[in-house]
Amino acid sequence: MSRFDLTGKIALVTGASRGIGRAIAWALAEQGARVIIHYKQAEDAAASLAGRIREQGGQAWTVAADLAAPDGHIVLATGVAAILREAGADALDVLVNNAGVGLRARIADVRPEDFDRVLQVNLKTPFFLIQKLLPVLRDGGRIINVSSMGTRAAYPEMSVYAPAKAGLEALTLLLAAELGERGITVNAVLPGATATDLNERARDPEKAKVIAQTVALGRVGQPDDIADIVAFLASDAGRWVTGQRIDATGGQRL
Ligand SMILES: NC(=O)c1ccc[n+]([C@@H]2O[C@H](COP(=O)([O-])OP(=O)(O)OC[C@H]3O[C@@H](n4cnc5c(N)ncnc54)[C@H](OP(=O)(O)O)[C@@H]3O)[C@@H](O)[C@H]2O)c1
Repeated sequence: MSRFDLTGKIALVTGASRGIGRAIAWALAEQGARVIIHYKQAEDAAASLAGRIREQGGQAWTVAADLAAPDGHIVLATGVAAILREAGADALDVLVNNAGVGLRARIADVRPEDFDRVLQVNLKTPFFLIQKLLPVLRDGGRIINVSSMGTRAAYPEMSVYAPAKAGLEALTLLLAAELGERGITVNAVLPGATATDLNERARDPEKAKVIAQTVALGRVGQPDDIADIVAFLASDAGRWVTGQRIDATGGQRL
């Protein structure tokens, strides 16, 4: 069996209805993982992905939760527990904290309610979701947090988003140290401009050309570019990487 194979593993991917999360769920399923597809409102998109995975002979479930809500992590963890029971699984193998929201605003324009929402979805909910799921995460399992290259290069309009992601990366580092004794690896993946609904500029062909001039490999990212890195980290092949911030930008703003 290939060391990249994920047969028999169960993975939760948050924000898997669209964009990068959708590609991650698909990539994990391609390697044989059973996938829990979380979404907020895009029920049809989540269901169609689950349907595609099942058509290929895989197993997939969907679960809804608003991760901007203070109890979002509880709703999601409760749904995951029910799915694990239904699947006859005693533990979760892989947790991918991918769901995120952006906000393009310089510091002068940020309202406290925007600050709270961006911090909630990108940092506070992942923090408490990890806390809630740690008891059911298998020893030897994986936590992969999707951050952003906005933590290593200055983009003034990311005045709230980048600090929220930086917090997620700090959490990644300390959890890697704490969870090493359980054999759990914890890493952060840092996408650059990636063509999804969240990044309208990267989807616009003309704007994408301008961004591409700042990327060593000469184009913006596609969701699959990020998903393959996550699939590697989730697999046995990624067993010796922990506590790291993995740049997933094709060399943006090097
Ligand atoms: N795209 C980029 O250029 C880029 C760059 C750096 C980092 N990232 C990071 O990559 C991750 C994925 O981004 P993306 O570009 O794929 O975004 P996207 O296309 O906008 O998809 C966002 C996903 O997150 C879910 N989501 C949004 N708000 C939510 C909430 N309040 N509660 C629960 N789920 C919610 C959405 O669910 P619904 O479909 O149900 O709404 C969707 O599945 C994010 O963490 C983002 O910060 C993206």
